[in-house]
Amino acid sequence: ATERTLSIIKPDAVAKNVIGQIYARFEAAGLKVIAARMQHLSQREAEAFYAVHKERPFFKDLVGFMVSGPVMIQVLEGEGAIAKNRELMGATDPKKADKGTIRADFADSIDANAVHGSDAPETAAAEVAFFFPGLAIYSR
Ligand code: CMP
Repeated sequence: ATERTLSIIKPDAVAKNVIGQIYARFEAAGLKVIAARMQHLSQREAEAFYAVHKERPFFKDLVGFMVSGPVMIQVLEGEGAIAKNRELMGATDPKKADKGTIRADFADSIDANAVHGSDAPETAAAEVAFFFPGLAIYSR
């Protein structure tokens, strides 16, 4: 089915000037960028976005990293977009990411791991609505 997923190009990849290279991978895989915005997240926004991880030991470092520079936020649409984007990204820890994935090629560490992508239909809907509330209203 056609799906939408929320993608974030994180501060490390924005600083490396590889937004275009990452977008090219989305496009080559048949994912269409249907909404996008560059934004420097506030502490509050980053904490709210990652609220599900609030109790995890890495939460503070994760939020600190996400507010360290601008990010590029986009909604990707396409057939099986959620799983397709996760395949393109590779494993969360770049050391475990398959060759040729975005994280294998552009990420440095588990925090500076280049990209975020929604992991399931429910989180995709919530994450798209978090950053692009208008889109959620008109989806499907
Ligand atoms: P992301 O897909 O953005 O979702 C949560 C982020 O927390 C994850 O990518 C990693 O960058 C970061 N993180 C740091 N440590 C861990 C860990 N042990 N397990 C999962 N995510 C982690």
